Formats: sequence, C-alpha cells, structure tokens
Amino acid sequence: MTVRSRISGIGMYVPERVLTNADLERMVDTSDTWIQDRTGVRERRIAADDETASTMGIQAARQALEQAEVDPKDLDLVITATTSPDGMFPAVASRIQDGLGATGAGAFDVNAACVGFLSGLATATQFIATGAYERILVVGTELLSRIVDWSDRTTCVLFADGAGAVVVEAGGQGGPLSFVLHSDGSGAQTLYADGPCGVPNGLEPDGYYISMDGRHIFKFAVQAMDSATRESVEMAGLDLSDIDLMIPHQANLRIINATTKALGMPPERAMVNVDRYGNTSSASIPIALREAWEQGRLHEGDRIAFVTFGGGLVWGAMIFEWVPVGPLRPVAEPVHATASGN
Ligand code: COA
Repeated sequence: MTVRSRISGIGMYVPERVLTNADLERMVDTSDTWIQDRTGVRERRIAADDETASTMGIQAARQALEQAEVDPKDLDLVITATTSPDGMFPAVASRIQDGLGATGAGAFDVNAACVGFLSGLATATQFIATGAYERILVVGTELLSRIVDWSDRTTCVLFADGAGAVVVEAGGQGGPLSFVLHSDGSGAQTLYADGPCGVPNGLEPDGYYISMDGRHIFKFAVQAMDSATRESVEMAGLDLSDIDLMIPHQANLRIINATTKALGMPPERAMVNVDRYGNTSSASIPIALREAWEQGRLHEGDRIAFVTFGGGLVWGAMIFEWVPVGPLRPVAEPVHATASGN
C-alpha cells in the first residue's frame, strides 16, 4: 500500500524587469511580428544583477509554503530543479534550504533541463509513496539570461528567468496516477550549454551559451509531448478525453498548439503563459500551475497532465489527480440532532 501525495501549495516568482519584443528589436535583427508569429512570446522577465537561481527560488518557495500553511522547519526535503545554478556547488537546494530556515530538511538538485521540475516532482512523490518522507518542497528555478548569447537572435528571443515551487505532502485522495520519464542522450548536440568542467584548464571560452537546432527541437518536441501524454494517460487507465487540463512546458505557443492538435484536444485545454514569460525551463511548469490556480482552473478530482521536453534530449509526463491546496481539512463529523425528549 503506497502513500498518496498531493500538492498543498504552489508559488512563483518572476523578476521585475520586463524585456519586450520591441526591446529585442533594438538588440538583434528581429521583429515583434516574427517573434510573436513563430513563438507566441510577447515579453519575458530578466533577473536583476543581485538575483540568482536560489534567491528567486526562495521567493517562489515562500509563497508555496504560505499557501500550504507549512512551516519551513517541518520540511523533510528540498529538491531543486535547475540548469542555471548559482555555482557548481553547493547545490541550489541547500542554498534555498538555508534561506528558508528549513533546518530539518535534506537537499539536492536535479538537472534534467526543462524536464527538471517534472523529474523532481516524480522523485518527491516516490519518497512520499514509500513513507520515507511526508513534506517535500520542489522548486524549479532558472536564470537563463546569464547563459543566453544576447547577440544570437535564434535563442535570445526564447529564454528567460523565473522560479516556481510546490509543497508536496502525504495524504489526500488524489496525487500522481502515472508518470513517464525518457531520455535519448544521442540528441545532446541539438540543444545544450557547456560548462567549465568540460573545458581543459588553460582554455578560456567566450562564455557558456545555450546552443540549439531550433527546427530539429521543434519536431522532436511535438512528437515527444504527444507520445509522453499518450503513454502516461494509458498507464493511468484513462482516455485522453479524461484529461481536464494540460500544463505543458512553455517553450513555444506553436509547439503547445501542435501538441494539443496531435492529441485531438481543444487548444484551450492547455494552460498557456509563454506569451508573458518566454521559456523558463524548469520553472515553466510550476509558474503555469500557479497561474492556473489563480485563474480558478484547478478543481478537486480534475486530471491534470504535466507534459514536457528539453535538452538531453529528455521528455516526460505525469497525470495528477487534483486535491485542493492548503491544509487537509478533516472530514466533517456527521451532525446529530440533539435529542430532547420524544
Ligand atoms: N528574428 C527574425 N528572423 C529569425 C529569427 C529571429 N529571432 N530567428 C531566426 N530567424 C530566421 C532564420 O534565420 C531563418 O531565415 P532564413 O529562412 O533566411 O534562413 C527564418 O527566420 C526561419 O528560421 P527557422 O529556424 O526555420 O524558424 P522556425 O519557424 O523553425 O522558428 C524557432 C524558429 C526557434 C522559434 C522554432 O524552431 C522553435 O521554437 N524551435 C524549438 C525551440 C525550443 O523549444 N527550444 C527549447 C526547448 S526546451
């Protein structure tokens, strides 16, 4: 008998600075029309100089913990998904654990590019399913603007900064019904960012920038999101028509629309906010989840499909039955009439 888990709090944080398509027109040879037509992005957020993946993650985590009404000291574990850590080590998760005062929690990072948050969430639900832990914080946080080449128009219009977080707790009658995680490392050269440890001492590269074969990734993304959704829906014993809401990785509106079309779903069944935040990698799903909650799109018993893909190449999906956020309310006692004679 495994323990069920639920998402009891959702938080997000995006930096204040907005970078519009008009701003990008002044930086590279592009246009607002091209960016909107090909990607659906209108604007994105860019971190301030004093921000890092951990400072943004802490902000998102605080909002999630507040909604869950969980004291950071009661957390058992902090898992952070990121591809843009403050440093090589310590882990961003340890920095977040310290910033929150989560003194009873273990901490580690997950790097699965844009599948990082889903991988972290799957990990958290497994710790809970076995009974090992009861309260886990999963954070997705990215400062991609520092690994974007701002003179490369094929990537700089897409990526951006932000953070999202969820508190995962034992209990409730929903939770993950199935998940799939896939990898094909042979596709690594189509989407990657190098780092200092891959470079021999003495060689000084210009920087460690995101490099991407856009057309290849586009085709891969639609096929991967389509197959991962079908696989996880089938594993859950459901039909595609049972999915109430899809929370896809926010990489490109055309990818999201092509995926819902391939699945035979109406486009409005997918949550979309890529227009305002661009691609925030591991932060994109928890940010979209928070906004779906704010928009009243999450209802008790709904079947939510988290679906994503990224550099690796990696892809995956999870079907999650929704339980309302906040503390679990005790089931109301039946009200007995106070008998007063006959
Ligand atoms: N502004 C204007 N023109 C641009 C441009 C820009 N920012 N970026 C590329 N172009 C040009 C190209 O140079 C090309 O010109 P050419 O026809 O003269 O060679 C033309 O626009 C079409 O380029 P193409 O790459 O075929 O466009 P596309 O429709 O495939 O859109 C992407 C490009 C990157 C938006 C799209 O391929 C994509 O979103 N791919 C997936 C990326 C992704 O999701 N990455 C993250 C994964 S987690």
